[in-house]
Amino acid sequence: MKQIIDVQVRTRKAEWTACKTDMLVVGRFSDDAGQVIGALDTKLDGAIGRLAKIGDFTGKAKTQAVVYGNGRIGAERVLLLGLGERKKATLDTLRKAAATAANRAVEMKVKHVSLALHNSFLGSLDAQTVGRAISESVYFGAYRYDEFVTLNGNGRVASLAAEVVDPDPKLIEGLTPGISAGATIGQAQCYARTLANRPGNVIDPPALAKIAQEMARGFKTVRCTVFDEKKLRQKKMGGILAVGSGSRSEPRLIVLKYTPRTRPAKGLPTVALVGKGITFDSGGISIKPAQDMDQMKLDKTGAMAVLATVRAVAEMGLPVSVLGVIPSAENLPSGTSYRPGDIITTYSGKTVEILNTDAEGRMILCDAIAYAAEQKSDVIVDIATLTGACMVALGTYKAGLMGNDDELVSQLKQAADDSGENVWHLPSGDEYADEMKSKVADLKNSGNRWGGACTAAAFLRQFAGDAKWAHLDIAGMDLFAKATECATRGSTGFGVRLLTTYLMNLVDKKR
Ligand code: BES
Ligand code: MN
Ligand code: ZN
Repeated sequence: MKQIIDVQVRTRKAEWTACKTDMLVVGRFSDDAGQVIGALDTKLDGAIGRLAKIGDFTGKAKTQAVVYGNGRIGAERVLLLGLGERKKATLDTLRKAAATAANRAVEMKVKHVSLALHNSFLGSLDAQTVGRAISESVYFGAYRYDEFVTLNGNGRVASLAAEVVDPDPKLIEGLTPGISAGATIGQAQCYARTLANRPGNVIDPPALAKIAQEMARGFKTVRCTVFDEKKLRQKKMGGILAVGSGSRSEPRLIVLKYTPRTRPAKGLPTVALVGKGITFDSGGISIKPAQDMDQMKLDKTGAMAVLATVRAVAEMGLPVSVLGVIPSAENLPSGTSYRPGDIITTYSGKTVEILNTDAEGRMILCDAIAYAAEQKSDVIVDIATLTGACMVALGTYKAGLMGNDDELVSQLKQAADDSGENVWHLPSGDEYADEMKSKVADLKNSGNRWGGACTAAAFLRQFAGDAKWAHLDIAGMDLFAKATECATRGSTGFGVRLLTTYLMNLVDKKR
């Protein structure tokens, strides 16, 4: 199997014009060329100025140009990235630029890329934030998923060495901690993407459990416990068992416990992260249409976000206790599948009438959430590709956020703003919960046509006990995603940055 591209991000003290590199990347605002471009343009005999003059590159957002070195600058080529108007620029402008640079570098088979993007942003943002955004984004943009492609011998580069260059050693020093945190988070996000992109015949629930165990083995601070089918039966986790009953692959409940070496500060909550791990969702007996069903291998991206967040948090040694809970099953139709009409007794004791076997996510999550509540988690955040309805409501730009606690909701919104993984708050109160009542059981697993994202959340909320609970519906974030200037097709690893940032902010006592 082909290895995923090995990416490194470093810092280096160098003059922009002298910097020896395969490609130097510089940003330009449409209303301000900036000093780096000024210096380069002089040595390049005005080549960049001429580009602007004939209108080929003026710094407009989402535009690019490549200028080749003339022997008087250190770089072989200069990639110019348009940043749009200076006053409209945000942290996300920088993220997109850095990801685009890395994406182009891989596309152009450049092995060594030097970034001079930070200086356009340091006026308004602090060095730590800037460093982290750049390094996360380099990992993001350089990512490719092609481990099973054998028929392109002249294929892509095996590695990319990226560096942030600046002549000022003080500034380099300021950027470095952010660069290294960003590398940890960026690598974790790539890890989540690769696992999510692997198809159902490669990753089934037992395979997912092995991967989690292997990840945990890398850290003294992480413990992994796996409940197999026998244990699930002993524990009476009826929801997970029901969904898994149609597949030859057994279901699993994977529990990752991160206990930091440094004692968490007083008053910090223990946080449970619960991720939906359906390794393939055919819909089961209520089978889905054939069109695009392949995308349902991505129905485990919530689980991957949890797994990768635990990895990032452990690598950083964050002083906060985290419990990762991943219920995993494959939803297939067969002679042993659960059926519409079945009444399932879940781990909590609550009974659920199955109206649609395709509403399987909530059936595995309700057991996992009840388990997390039982483990005395103060906060439970679940993350799941739960409903097509959420995708209809919000499109592919924002994940749905529901919750039973205003403070938790606002902390997650803040984490979304800080990380660039966007969310939108949606309701999940009693009126929605009422719709999920059954006449023959406590609950039913599917409501009426309307507000499907909200009724699904209202179903889940009833399993969280007294914990503060929030739910992220990420259905629209990865499935059916097209390639963009900063990402290849397939999983984007949504949630890793958001959840990690939420936990980092808790530790920083920021909101
Ligand atoms: N995994 C799907 C949700 C989904 C749909 C994610 C499209 C991404 C894109 C989930 O298990 C599902 O099938 N949900 C049903 C629920 C319904 C039967 C109540 C849905 O959204 O149609
Ligand atoms: Mn489904
Ligand atoms: Zn599903």
